[in-house]
Amino acid sequence: MIPDMQTLKVIYDTDPGVDDAMALLLLARHKRVDLIGVTTVFGNADIATTTRNALYLKQKLGFSAPVAQGAGAPLVGEPDAPPTFVHGLNGLGDIDLPPISVSADPRPAHQLIIDLVTATPGEVTIIAVGRMTNLERAMREAPEIVGLVKQIVVMGGAFGRNGHTGNVTPVAEANIWGDPDAADIVFGAAWPIAIAGLDVTQATVMSETYVAKLAADAGEDGAFVRAISAFYQNFHRESAGLDGFYVHDSSAVALALHPEFYQTETGAIRVVTEGIAIGQTIIKPDGRNYPPGAWDGRPSQTIAVGVDAVAVLKFYRETLVG
Ligand code: BDR
Ligand code: CA
Repeated sequence: MIPDMQTLKVIYDTDPGVDDAMALLLLARHKRVDLIGVTTVFGNADIATTTRNALYLKQKLGFSAPVAQGAGAPLVGEPDAPPTFVHGLNGLGDIDLPPISVSADPRPAHQLIIDLVTATPGEVTIIAVGRMTNLERAMREAPEIVGLVKQIVVMGGAFGRNGHTGNVTPVAEANIWGDPDAADIVFGAAWPIAIAGLDVTQATVMSETYVAKLAADAGEDGAFVRAISAFYQNFHRESAGLDGFYVHDSSAVALALHPEFYQTETGAIRVVTEGIAIGQTIIKPDGRNYPPGAWDGRPSQTIAVGVDAVAVLKFYRETLVG
């Protein structure tokens, strides 16, 4: 079968989050995506808020997949204060939220992941755009799922390509920094993982003009993107002098559906779990030889190191405009 024609069964593991919401919109509207589950994790807001936001998005976007609440704290220690200066106090750019009439699945997120993956072995792609805490718990409780997942596509980390090294510290990206222990365990398991880190997400920018045109051409979805992204755009303008904002979580969706937009490298990955470099992601590229070390015996994973940003932006627009 031509890869382009394949439908992807997707579990979306997320901490909505403005860019999480934009990526969920993409998944809900894409014709080649069968969204089978949404699982929440703490991160851009606390777990009650990210779950409330995911339920709001289910109601607003009209998808039928269950939403299950996940971890509220990292594997080790306490959660850090949510970045309200990036995503607003309510995690969705402080837009007004209506009363929510849909409810969460009774299962915890890791159980929903286990159930969905085992129901269709080899078919499920997990797109993970927050802390890796739910994935670590799922593989700890049901190790067999490691061999049953089709692929995990992650937005997280930074490998120093194209000068992109970190956004919460000089060497760490937020999703990995927020639970480095879980990320190190998940990246060390033998399921196939592809990562869109800051190396490519900070190379993909939605400008103010782009968003205005989307708002004009993509009906209610376009207006929604403009409404939720205004606060986020302001943060990028003030912190990075950017006319627009980085395309983080939607890049994981693009990498899952259009790997041809990306240049990649492979190798074993470690995450620094203590000290001043906590949260740093480091790849040992395949084919490079070093003395015995911490990367030995780990599976080869894939990282995106280059991107056709124009193609990613076109893909987002065409999915919404039709
Ligand atoms: C990542 O951190 C969160 O703020 C975003 O939603 C994205 O997943 C970017 O570092
Ligand atoms: Ca996110």
